[in-house]
This record gives sequence, structure tokens and C-alpha cells, in this order.
Amino acid sequence: MTRLDKLYLGTNTKMYKTIEQTRTFVTSLERLTRDLPIEEVVLFVIPSFPSVGPAKECVPSGRIRIGAQNMGWAEEGPLSGEVSAPMLKELGADLVMIGHSERRHELRETDRMENGKVLSALQNGITPLLCIGETAEQKAYGISDECLSIQLKIGLCHVSSYEAEKIWIAYEPVWAIGAEGTPAEPAYIRQRHRVIRNTLVDLFGETRGQEIPILYGGSVNIKNAGEIIREENVDGLFIGRSAWDPDSFNRIIRDVLPIWREKRKAEFI
Ligand code: PGA
Repeated sequence: MTRLDKLYLGTNTKMYKTIEQTRTFVTSLERLTRDLPIEEVVLFVIPSFPSVGPAKECVPSGRIRIGAQNMGWAEEGPLSGEVSAPMLKELGADLVMIGHSERRHELRETDRMENGKVLSALQNGITPLLCIGETAEQKAYGISDECLSIQLKIGLCHVSSYEAEKIWIAYEPVWAIGAEGTPAEPAYIRQRHRVIRNTLVDLFGETRGQEIPILYGGSVNIKNAGEIIREENVDGLFIGRSAWDPDSFNRIIRDVLPIWREKRKAEFI
């Protein structure tokens, strides 16, 4: 059973929001959430590349972590259009999203590519947020768990148990993401998160495997956020559309925090 002492809540703004819009968003979110204890609630925003530096400047306190939506696997090289981990570090990125379903499926990224990115992020002191999830077809064939386990085993290959401390995982079923997606049922999420937890324990041992945060994402909204966070092994939420307005994001945060606290208390009894 996981007993993580932090709740992770963040948003990826995809290819939306200009630099100015990102500044306004991050500044409002920071103001709205200033009273929250950062040792308990980890908030993060992942804007598009040009907005990473400006977003960082909006939160000099570091109360909201800022991430990038992708990076190249090499430190430098002939890879036009890519940015590297040292470049992100220079911008002040705290984390980097790796293997979002839109990159895996629209842009044909593979598990081996994601693995190179995870290793490079770790080497450069940036938290990798590795995104995994099965497609509707894989779900229909009944191979969701196998897919998740493969994505984890290849994506995290050569990561030591020591380095694993810095990894975050987001489980986002491909069929649940975006306006066309259907949110997964809490029981389904519970089962998949258990498989992810067991795979992490297999890879990194009991202690380390239990400490890696596993976030759920895919059509999370104000109505379903509470029931999802209640589930075992759900350590946070990775939200798209429903968090792009600072007031809506703040409402979700305020809704789930007491539920998560109750769950955590129950796990300690
Ligand atoms: P959504 O996006 O919440 O809008 O479905 C989730 C994501 O792509 O991470």
C-alpha cells in the first residue's frame, strides 16, 4: 500500500496558451493557492517550450513547479527542432513530461526514445514525468496491463533504484484523453494503478517502488476528481482542459485535498 506524504496536482497546457497567457495563468494560480502547504501539495504547470522561462519567472518562490512538454534524448547533436535537458535546465525547468500519448501516437515516439529521454533528464537533474497508457484497441484485446508493464520496463530501463527516487509516472489511458475521451471508471483506475505499482516494485524493490508517485490523467474534471483521488495508489492528478482556467484548477485542488488527507489518514491506521 502506498503511503506517499504528498499530493501531486498539475496540468499540461499542450499547444495552447501564448507566453502572455501562460504568465497570466501561472500568476493567478500562484495567488489562488498561496495558502497551501507546499510540503504537502506539489503543484506543477507544463506549458509550451517558449513559456517555460517566463512561467518560471512568475513563481520566484518555486511554489509551483514548471515543466517542459518534451525533450530530445541527446545532450546536443544534429536533431533540428529538439531541445536538450541541459537547455531545459538553463531555462529553470523542474520537470519534463516524457511520452505523452499525443507524442507517442501523433508523432510516433517509441518506448526506446522515451527511455533515452528519461535517462538524459535524470543525468541533468530534471524530474522525468513518464506518461504511459494503453490504447482503446489494446484495452479491447485485454492487454492493458501488459502494455503498461512494457512501457514501464523499456521506458525505465537502466534507471537505478537510487535514481528512481526522482521519477514520477502518469497513467493516462489513450482513450480517456481529450474532448473525445471518456474518463476511466475509478475501479478500472484502481486496477491499473495496482499493476503499475507492482511493476515499479519489481523494477526498483519494495521501498523505492512504493515511493514513486503515480498520477492519473485523462478527462479529469471537477465531478470525477474526488472519486479518483480516493483510490489506492493514486497519488495525484494530471489534468488537461479542466485545469486551464486558474479558478477551475483551484476548485479541483480544494475539492481533492481533504479527500486525499482522509485516504492518507486511513492508510496509516
Ligand atoms: P484532458 O488531458 O484532461 O484534457 O483529457 C489530459 C492530458 O492530455 O494529459
